Amino acid sequence: MSDIQWWSSESFWRKTAIWVTAGSFVVLIFLTLHSMSEIWAGSKRVPAYSVINHRIDYVFDEKRNFQVPVIGVEEPLFGKKLTEEEAEALVSRGKLTVQAKNCMNCHTLLGNGAYYAPDLTKSWLDPWWGSKEVREQQMVEFLMSPQDRVHNGLGRRMPNLGITEEEARATVAFLKWMASIDTNGFPYNFKPIKQEN
Ligand code: HEC
Repeated sequence: MSDIQWWSSESFWRKTAIWVTAGSFVVLIFLTLHSMSEIWAGSKRVPAYSVINHRIDYVFDEKRNFQVPVIGVEEPLFGKKLTEEEAEALVSRGKLTVQAKNCMNCHTLLGNGAYYAPDLTKSWLDPWWGSKEVREQQMVEFLMSPQDRVHNGLGRRMPNLGITEEEARATVAFLKWMASIDTNGFPYNFKPIKQEN
């Protein structure tokens, strides 16, 4: 018998395959463009690099039920206000240092990397660095000679990676910028520095 059911005909499945593939392709393009707009520096969740000229607070948001970064008053990194271009150059230099020294070999950044050492996403806000007057310098000194410090009581020490002062300052800029990113409350349970006026 040659009367084939419509749902078992070859042409039906061929058309279905073409429509599903074409539909998925359109959805994928939409999602890609949407993600790009969400992760671009200067978008709602990822502030422009010049955010390093400001205080970054991390406060509990009742509605969203987790902590979110709040960009506060002007508080330039190393006391020097930078233009957007200067800030971008400095943060990029820091990012290059983080890549060149392979910090992800031990740390996670935005959740990516290894679990040997603490996540660095909000490390700018770690109370361990002390008050805002000394924090930046503490971080620079830690990055340049971490082997001398007993830090979070992990029982692990970070090795000296031969980071120069210029690289350390740029890395601190990168870490400050990263702390300003809205990561939907990640890392969970992070206890930020207290920043009263
Ligand atoms: C070989 C492993 C290793 C590598 C590579 C490494 N770290 Fe670490 N790092 C550690 C360990 C372990 C600690 C915790 C030290 C402690 O608690 O005393 C740490 C702590 C830190 C802290 C303090 C975290 C906080 O929130 O207080 C910062 C900041 C940091 N590292 C930055 C970096 C950067 C930037 C790089 C790359 C340039 C890097 N680390 C590369 C092992 C590493």
